[in-house]
Amino acid sequence: MDLRSDTLTQPTPAMRAAMAAAPVGDDGYGEDPTVNELEARFAALAGKEAALFVPSGVMGNQIAIRVLTQPGDVVLVGRHQHVVGFEMGAAARNAGVQFATVDDQMGEWALDEVREALAAEYDHQPPVAAVFVENTHMFAGGHPVEVSAVVALANEIGDRPLHLDGARLFNAAIATGASVAQLSARATTVTVCLSKGLCAPVGSLLAGPGPMMERARVERKRLGGAMRQAGVLAAAGLVALDTMVERLAEDHARARRLAECFAVAFPDSNYDPARCRTNVVSFDHPRAREVVAQLSTWGVLGQTVAPRRLRYVTHAGVDDADVEYVADVLTRFSLS
Ligand SMILES: Cc1ncc(COP(=O)(O)O)c(C=O)c1O
Repeated sequence: MDLRSDTLTQPTPAMRAAMAAAPVGDDGYGEDPTVNELEARFAALAGKEAALFVPSGVMGNQIAIRVLTQPGDVVLVGRHQHVVGFEMGAAARNAGVQFATVDDQMGEWALDEVREALAAEYDHQPPVAAVFVENTHMFAGGHPVEVSAVVALANEIGDRPLHLDGARLFNAAIATGASVAQLSARATTVTVCLSKGLCAPVGSLLAGPGPMMERARVERKRLGGAMRQAGVLAAAGLVALDTMVERLAEDHARARRLAECFAVAFPDSNYDPARCRTNVVSFDHPRAREVVAQLSTWGVLGQTVAPRRLRYVTHAGVDDADVEYVADVLTRFSLS
């Protein structure tokens, strides 16, 4: 059973049917009706003026950096966010920005560190041009950030733009009970991925103010991400939004059950299963790579996201019987 990532999900039969039947046009001319519908739908969901369909979550983040900053600017960000550690240095390569990082070990930010980072510009350091947050916070075990925490952060950063990397924002919405619009309200720009728990084969969306999304369209072109008859992909995204959001709660319940089993199997890790509120089970273990390798010999695939941090992710391809199999394996598991 493959618990490495929710990106392993397969498109549903309804998605495949919608893809085959989708009306399409050349999106380079803004003439793909299905892409236009998906963009309008997400803009409305996020409470923003406009949205842009992009090939990946990384591209959504990279475009956001390019529209919100100039080369040489500082982006304030949590140390363990995807944009820092998992995008192959793209922000430096593509946009020439540098990061100032604050601690986000548990998925939330210490506001005193934020204040300190912002104050640094008075001491001849480059200005913080934008602030990036992530919700859910993948590295912190899929931690869902509450609206109140986003508001507290937004209040600290004044009129600097805030970008929300919401690759799993629908998971955050399900876990917190807040809507995507509420979670995005204080963000200038927001991305979501359709290709993770929502099971679409390809695609993410970036939303924000209308004129900024026009500039984002230019940046997407510069990065080679402009597509043509992309309605074939957008059609799957529409089905994802229509049919796959509510079921994320099932992934969350299964992850919690797994978290409880992992906590019992690895008591020295002091992993609190209550921290697992979405679809990610992740905690530190001194021999994380060996744990992952040995569990894989039982057919249970996971991965490490840092030398000592292991991760198991539930998704639509994992059912209750799979979870009970892992639970059973964990009762018998011991490191050789
Ligand atoms: C928090 C976060 N942001 C962005 C991305 C990038 O998404 P993609 O793989 O579609 O580029 C991921 C991917 O796992 C992610 O976890």
